[in-house]
Formats: sequence, structure tokens, C-alpha cells
Amino acid sequence: MFTNIILKTPYYLYDLDVLCQTLSAATLSAKKYNYHIHYAIKANHNPVITDMINRFGLGADCVSGNEIVEALYRGFPANKIVYAGVGKVDDEIKLALLRDIFCFNCESIEELEVIEQVAKNNNKNAHVALRINPGIQPHTHYNITTGTEENKFGIHLSQLQQALDLCNHSPWLKFEGLHFHIGSQITSLKPFVELCKKVNNIFSDFEIQKYGGLHLNLGGGLAVDYGEPQQNMIPDFSTFFSVFAANLKVPQNMNIHFELGRSLVAQCGKLITKVLYTKKGINKTFLITDGGMTELMRPALYQAMHKIENISSKYPEEKYDIVGPICETTDVLAKDIFLPGTKRGDILAVYSCGAYAESMMLKYNMREKAKSFFLKNGKIFASNLFEKEKKCKSQISELKNY
Ligand code: LLP
Repeated sequence: MFTNIILKTPYYLYDLDVLCQTLSAATLSAKKYNYHIHYAIKANHNPVITDMINRFGLGADCVSGNEIVEALYRGFPANKIVYAGVGKVDDEIKLALLRDIFCFNCESIEELEVIEQVAKNNNKNAHVALRINPGIQPHTHYNITTGTEENKFGIHLSQLQQALDLCNHSPWLKFEGLHFHIGSQITSLKPFVELCKKVNNIFSDFEIQKYGGLHLNLGGGLAVDYGEPQQNMIPDFSTFFSVFAANLKVPQNMNIHFELGRSLVAQCGKLITKVLYTKKGINKTFLITDGGMTELMRPALYQAMHKIENISSKYPEEKYDIVGPICETTDVLAKDIFLPGTKRGDILAVYSCGAYAESMMLKYNMREKAKSFFLKNGKIFASNLFEKEKKCKSQISELKNY
């Protein structure tokens, strides 16, 4: 850990005490029902974050070979890694097989056939769960909906029997169970109740027990409060899990898994950015910040609203559009929001940036990579994990080699 640090904006600031409290709440609530949590690494693969999550004993949910390598490198046990994604490349499948991950969440019949072939070529058994597209509307933003028939994810129910038969007849495929993930930032519990009902029906209609899989993975999707992050720092994991406990009617011996991303990490992170210029339009005042869509894509991609504070002004409030420096009209952090009167040089904190901000950072306009800093017991520090990482490049490439 370094003490002398230069906080050059824009940067991500992660509160490790909040992360720790969130992980404690999630793991405690899951323990009540013996549920397993895999962290969806795509939400944030910052090594300090993944290190702490690993220390809480979670598994990892990966969607690429590189995420698998990262998870292994951070110490997540291979037998707690699940691997989803509609476009797994043959080499990634081989890597996952040779690293003995727990399970492929398989998304199509053709993928199942390729996994079988790669397994055969490498004389390995592939452990697979079938990801089903349940046709459920999660009532979230359409760009983060995954479980409707319009979406590319999962196997349609009309092909489930064929997939089950394929697993059953192949000496190379070991059927582990079923996988679902209906979407992200799901603010109502109703779609999860609907999901349970669908799962119950699938179990009875297809006599899933006959095929011997003992795992049921219900994905992620639990929402966080972007409007009032300080009031609702820790998502209600307890109610979330209780909905599944109350509504699932699957055999008692099933191991139930979840893949949580956003709910574990969103509220521990902020994006800190500086106001470069203020500019009067006809009906608007623009604040032009040094951070923009390259550091936080969510407003541009999903019209997401993040709470923003000016942490350096006490003037009366005015209405602003906060826009980044990128050459794109969609480079907006917030529209028509009220902040204390703001001037060049003021510092803004954008809340709830722990999930899908740093991991979705862009290089567009040849932007410099924003750094990350950490808060613990009220003290700010940088991490030397990144430095160590450079030295360990050879170890990482060893993990990639097979
Ligand atoms: N499992 C699978 C198969 C997923 O595709 C995802 C997220 C998760 C789990 C974790 O979902 P969560 O608990 O985080 O909702 N970039 C978007 C979110 C994309 C989510 C992609 N899949 C955003 O910023 O809102």
C-alpha cells in the first residue's frame, strides 16, 4: 500500500468498508438457505475488489477465458467457477476444460456439440448446465433484459429435450443441472417469483431429476438503489433469497446457486471527476467534466441515472446538464439535475459506480485509463496489487497456456 498518492481525476474511489458490509450481508443471508453465490466478475474485475470477494468464499461467474484466468489468478477455486456466454470460442472452452472449472452454462445446442467435441479431443469430461431462456419479462431497461424470447441468451424450451438427450447420450458431457438469468437491475421481486414458477414447471414437465443434475443456478439481477444510494447502501439480500426459498418447489437435494454482480459491488464505488468548464446554453447550463462516458457508460447505454454531488460547493442550487469531454452527443452523465452553484475546478462525486463502470471503461478518443483508489477506515490509499500484477504477467500467461 502506498501513502503518498496523487489523486488525478477522473478516478474510481472504492469504499472497502462498504464492500465488506455488503459481502457480509449477502453471505449471511445466503447461508440461511445454504445457497451458493458466484460473483459475476464482469461487474468489476479490479483486483482489490475481487481479492476481497474471494476472501468471503464466493465462487466466480465468468463470461470469457480471460475472466476465468483472472478468477483463478485471484485465488477463486476452479471448482467454484461457472462459465456462461453465447459465444464461447473453442480455445476458451479448452482452457476452461483443462483448468477443471465447475461448470459450463451452455447457451445453445450447437455450443453443446462443440463443447462435447473439444472435451473428446482433450480426453476430458465437460460439466455442463443448460441455460434456459424462460421467456420472462423482468421489467428492467430493455438493454439489460436477457430472459425474453427476443434475447440471444439461453436455450429455448422447445429445444430443451434435445439438449437433455444430447447430454444423456454423450460420454463426454456430464449434466449438472439448469441455469437461468433473466436480466439485471430488476427492481421488483415479481419477476423472480415468476422465474421460480417457471423453474418448478420445467422440473416437473421435463422430469429433470431423471438426468441426474444436482445444481440449479438462478443467475443474478438484484437491483440497487441508484436514486438514494446513501439510504440504501446494502441491498436487501435477505428478502431476495427468501423469495426463492418460498417459491421454489424443486427436489430437496438440489444445490441452489446465484450469480450476483451489481448488488455486491455497485454501492461501494464512486467516480470522482473535476469540472473543467461551465457553459451557458440557451435554456441550459452545461458542466463539462474530465470524466465521461469512457469512465461511466451507463447513462449513455441505458439512460441510467446516478446520484451526483458537488463535494466542493455550498452555493445555492442551480440546474445543470453534466457532460463529459468525449466527442459524442451521448456523453452525458446527467441531465437537468440540481447541484450547488458550480464553477471550474469543483469536484463531483458520481455515486453507485462500483458495478459496470470501471469494467466497461473505454479507450475511445485515446483516453488515459482512469486509476482507482480505496477507502478503508476513512483513509484513502492506492493499491500495489496493480504493480505486483505487472511483475506477475508471466504467471498469468502460464495460466493461459495449456
Ligand atoms: N449472470 C449472468 C449470466 C449475467 O449475464 C449477468 C449480468 C449476471 C449474472 C450478473 O447480473 P447482476 O447481478 O449484476 O444484475 N452493464 C449493464 C449490466 C449488464 C449485465 C450483464 N449480465 C449495466 O451497467 O447495467
